[in-house]
Amino acid sequence: MKVIVKKNYDEVSEIAAQEIVDLVKNKNNAVLGLPTGSTPVGMYKNVVKSYKNGEISFKNITTFNLDEYIGLNKDNDQSYYYFMNNNLFSHIDINRDNINIPNGMADDLENECKRYEEKLKAVGYMDIMYLGIGINGHIGFNEPAEYFEPFTHEVKLEESTIEANSRFFEKVEDVPTSALTMGIKTIFSAKKIILIATGENKADAIAKTVNGKIDPQVPASILQLHRDVTIIVDEAAGSRL
Ligand code: GLP
Repeated sequence: MKVIVKKNYDEVSEIAAQEIVDLVKNKNNAVLGLPTGSTPVGMYKNVVKSYKNGEISFKNITTFNLDEYIGLNKDNDQSYYYFMNNNLFSHIDINRDNINIPNGMADDLENECKRYEEKLKAVGYMDIMYLGIGINGHIGFNEPAEYFEPFTHEVKLEESTIEANSRFFEKVEDVPTSALTMGIKTIFSAKKIILIATGENKADAIAKTVNGKIDPQVPASILQLHRDVTIIVDEAAGSRL
């Protein structure tokens, strides 16, 4: 595990974006795994800037998002589909057919999870997977649990996650209580994984991820077993390392 500590949010956003820009420049048909949340917003802004400067094109790039809430349609401004469109896809030249996000409105959610895994397999899995982290150590929506779930699956969200994510909703009752998320093996299919975290409230989760025991109660700790992981944090999130 490589750990990079940058001064602040802006520096984390810049260096994280640079990795995407470099990959897309070198491999114009790369497959990217992408996260949502407030942490990657600055990274996406920098990626869009590079696209607008003419540095890169997403014409042949394929993306797979980590997760999606169950029960929010694409037009709901809290759906991850909406988030991705707003922060990245509507600003770049990506082919809409190459965008993949789990469909949390599917009639048969189990089947949707299988379909997602098959699609990923068909494109040869991800070149790079970006992750944020929850304050409880979750990655995607892999919540603290008794065991690690390997593949894309349905999860019931923890109270602490619902509470943390309620800041984006009008009221806490509006936050969906379940979601679809890539599993650990799905995430591990990426050749390279980059986790970004900023702010003091992530310091404990980051310390446990990097130096703690590998424990399904801290889902991100399993990243210690992947062969190419870089954790990029600001000084606050890295303060307990
Ligand atoms: C959500 C997402 C995660 C994300 C986490 C942290 O629960 N499912 O993928 O990493 O929030 O979000 P933030 O960056 O807003 O702290």
